[in-house]
Amino acid sequence: MTSSNASWVCLLLLCFAAMGDAEYMKYKDPKQPINTRINDLIGRMTLAEKIGQMTQIERDVASADVMKKYFIGSILSGGGSVPAPQATPSIWVNMVNEFQKGALSTRLGIPMIYGIDAVHGNNNVYNATLFPHNIGLGATRDPDLVKRIGEATALEVRATGIQYTFAPCIAVCRDPRWGRCYESYSEDHTIVQQMTDIILGLQGEIPVNHTKGVPYVAGKDKVAACAKHFVGDGGTHNGINENNTIIDEHGLLSIHMPPYYDSIIKGVATIMVSYSSLNGVKMHANHALVTGYLKSKLHFRGFVISDWLGIDRITSPPGANYTYSVQAGINAGIDMVMVPYNYTDYIGDLTSLVSKGIVNMSRIDDAVRRILRVKFAMGLFENPLADLSFADQLGKKEHRELAREAVRKSLVLLKNGNSPNQQFLPLPKKARRILVAGSHASNLGYQCGGWSIQWMGGSGDITTGTTILDAIKSTVVDSTSVVYAENPDDSFMNHNDFSFAIVVVGEPPYSETVGDSTNLTILDPGPDTIRTVCSAVKCAVVVVSGRPVVIEPYVPLMEALVAAWLPGTEGQGVADVLFGDYGFTGKLPRTWFKSVDQLPMNVGDPHYDPLYPFGFGLTINSSLPGFSGADNVGDTRQRLIYVSLCSLLSLALINDLGIRVFQHPAALLF
Ligand code: BGC
Ligand code: BGC
Repeated sequence: MTSSNASWVCLLLLCFAAMGDAEYMKYKDPKQPINTRINDLIGRMTLAEKIGQMTQIERDVASADVMKKYFIGSILSGGGSVPAPQATPSIWVNMVNEFQKGALSTRLGIPMIYGIDAVHGNNNVYNATLFPHNIGLGATRDPDLVKRIGEATALEVRATGIQYTFAPCIAVCRDPRWGRCYESYSEDHTIVQQMTDIILGLQGEIPVNHTKGVPYVAGKDKVAACAKHFVGDGGTHNGINENNTIIDEHGLLSIHMPPYYDSIIKGVATIMVSYSSLNGVKMHANHALVTGYLKSKLHFRGFVISDWLGIDRITSPPGANYTYSVQAGINAGIDMVMVPYNYTDYIGDLTSLVSKGIVNMSRIDDAVRRILRVKFAMGLFENPLADLSFADQLGKKEHRELAREAVRKSLVLLKNGNSPNQQFLPLPKKARRILVAGSHASNLGYQCGGWSIQWMGGSGDITTGTTILDAIKSTVVDSTSVVYAENPDDSFMNHNDFSFAIVVVGEPPYSETVGDSTNLTILDPGPDTIRTVCSAVKCAVVVVSGRPVVIEPYVPLMEALVAAWLPGTEGQGVADVLFGDYGFTGKLPRTWFKSVDQLPMNVGDPHYDPLYPFGFGLTINSSLPGFSGADNVGDTRQRLIYVSLCSLLSLALINDLGIRVFQHPAALLF
């Protein structure tokens, strides 16, 4: 080759290289380190594109065009917000993909992330497996079970094409009058801390050498999680939802904060801010805690999301000064705002706040970096579109078996006969004629509670599952006749001769503020049903409720009492244990009060005088003749001593941890 030829070749190569350079976008290269990709992408983004990333809108107002026009970074389904009633996975996947294509058609093609409240399974979705609500999981004391529930939930969320869940709620509920108490695993923060293992199930097991504070989501079969609601949501005054948590620094750091340490260590991708106030300051405007503590001190590197209309509620009445809400919320450190409807106001206000210098560009960049970090970490750029490969995960048999196991382990036996030698449970499968009664015996909606198909939950056959009545019928032998009467009267009882009765009563479904209650009574005519049935025949009472309820007046009437919490779709788990195929292992995750005027009353309080203490839960003495139950812990007195010792021990642990946490807040992390 002559030298002039050689120079031509060189020039051509240079040209090709230059052309290659123009097309090579570092942020699109999965081989690049995540920080390189973030820096590259952020360097290319306009303010409008950045603010779009910080915007989450409801599916109701979303479309491919809106995604494209406003560069929207995220969509959510609110409670009960579905593409069609009883929508199949393919309807869900098509909807999500349609929105995603809008996002991908933008200049930079940044994928959106779709979030949903999968708080006890993928609970808005017809046919999904609905697991017990958190309070029931707290009763199991079984973090490994909860992790497996996280894995199953991730698959059922992916079945609908969704990549993000607003779970777990890691509230430490300190007052059962709070309408969200069932979303809390326990009044004891150590139990809530253990249950954050659900994050490992949802997002995947975090590698040992993973940098603390950096979000971790393993891949296509996992979802981004959201620890909520930061912080003190379970400590509001008198249990009033979204109200004020009055607490000193020690109390905050030793009771409500610890589950956040665990969640961050486990790589949680996002954290949602609480509607509540802390000592009078709205958490959505709390710079000291959101930026100062969560981001700076705890080194949380995922994104902080607002709650639904959460910034609007910074002012009273909500939305009174939306521009101020945006300013206060974003400057407090919120990265993504769950708007969820009026996104043009939000985008307009934030844009002008930035142009006026009231919100700094560095704040915007911090927010966008965090959002992109989550999207890159979970492989969303590589796999933005869903397919139907997970469709058969929805409500599949193995998941229902897992939910049934969880139901069995969540049941807490509070009374069993009048002495250890006269146990009433387990019930015999072979009997002549048994009665099943009560408002909650044959009502799938009631046993699922709130956040089930609808935001508020519903009554009756809201989805597929097994009611407690169906479960009882399929557990007893064929020759046992099962009579169902929802609310039998005296004459019905007098004209029938039953071997025994099972009465299933409880609370109606509710969510959030609607669930706030000052009387904590069960649904009428529950008390009458108990009185009528249990005065006529020996009965076991099963309480289906999101929290301890007023029960003391009726306890003397019944032979046995079981707390079943909100078991979800797999009612078979209740019958498994009632009839002795499995033993009772659940322990109270909360103190069971005698009367509401004792509230708030938590384990360790000076005025502690419960009906059943925190940690209480009888087991069945299987050594007695005629019983097939699984456990044998000894007589009631021994058990009570054992339970009190455990409570004392856990108190000592709480105190110990409390002091350590107080002295070295971040020491647990690094
Ligand atoms: C939505 C819920 C949301 C609630 C907030 C409802 O309309 O469906 O997802 O939590 O509003 O008030
Ligand atoms: C609730 C959140 C929920 C959000 C979206 C709010 O009302 O407080 O827990 O994630 O709605 O449905």
